[in-house]
Amino acid sequence: MKETVVSGIRPTGKLHLGNYFGAYKNFLRLQEETNAYFFIADYHSLTTHPTPGDLKSSVRRVLAEYIALGLDPEKCTVYIQSDVPETAELYLFLNMNAYLGELERVTSFKEKARTQPNNINAGLLTYPVLMAADILLHRGVKVPVGKDQEQHLEMSRTFANRFNRLYNVEYFPEPTAFNFGTELVKVPGLTGGGKMSKSAGEADSIYLDEEASVLKKKIMRAVSDSGNEPGAPKSQPVQNLFDLMNLVCAPEVIASFEADHKAGSIRYGDLKKQLAEDMETFIAPLRDRIQATLGDSKRLDEIAAYGAEKARLSAQKTLREVREIIGFSR
Ligand code: ADP
Ligand code: TRP
Repeated sequence: MKETVVSGIRPTGKLHLGNYFGAYKNFLRLQEETNAYFFIADYHSLTTHPTPGDLKSSVRRVLAEYIALGLDPEKCTVYIQSDVPETAELYLFLNMNAYLGELERVTSFKEKARTQPNNINAGLLTYPVLMAADILLHRGVKVPVGKDQEQHLEMSRTFANRFNRLYNVEYFPEPTAFNFGTELVKVPGLTGGGKMSKSAGEADSIYLDEEASVLKKKIMRAVSDSGNEPGAPKSQPVQNLFDLMNLVCAPEVIASFEADHKAGSIRYGDLKKQLAEDMETFIAPLRDRIQATLGDSKRLDEIAAYGAEKARLSAQKTLREVREIIGFSR
């Protein structure tokens, strides 16, 4: 039996380099080797965007990107979360055994509560429960995500184990965060802070369909520092630039800039120029494929319907069994 893999991305905008290297790149290989479910987490979007006027077009956009970059609906199950309402039923069951204290301690909740103090809704608090429902719905064991999702996966394991203990079954397996490298990935943004993120503003992210001229401008304006003494350690913004080089530049190119940094003679203008060139080489084919796929509405509709059907088969089986375990069967 092949392992079951589940992952999703929220349709809050276009996919960026962080989404690609943190999550999506793994999807491509996993669809060849496992029983994989990749969905678009539109229910999750409501926790931060309660009336998302353009949700439909954002969902469409991510679906087009999923397909354009290589997900094959015959090799894996590609679906939209809200097309599978069994997700919501499992979320309800798991919510009955999720405790306020543990939910309030989740870092992403604390951060969101700080950034949207007027909308600390129950969905935000139970975000990790909905995420666990997504994964356990297909009894997933491997979850390809970036480093920022590690704590959410820990919660998913807690909920899976608690369910098993409570009903004295060994039904849900323990899901773990996964990446094909040795560690989970964190791609930095261009503005000198932590991870690349849409919420850090336009200048922070490199989108997978970024126009050549915009891409160049963004990279040339990326935050660096004012130079260093020979042998001094790298500042955070400079480390970020090296981390981005590591994704798209040749090892010898990186080594030469490393040597310049060590010698205290590095010119960040040159480094950024090189990074911009290599990034354009990487992005150009992705941009073309995304543009070509976006216009094909009919095909995207068919793919969504096909995926929903496959995902519901798996979800309905799980919910039938879960209802029986809890004691709702007649
Ligand atoms: P965003 O943070 O831009 O809103 P999501 O939260 O929807 O994106 O993330 C979708 C997937 O992409 C998750 O698996 C997440 O871990 C991954 N991801 C997002 N940003 C990064 C990043 N900067 N580095 C690595 N992985 C990331
Ligand atoms: N929370 C994830 C993120 O913000 C998105 C997500 C929702 C997800 N449900 C999931 C990821 C299930 C993996 C599995 O990136």
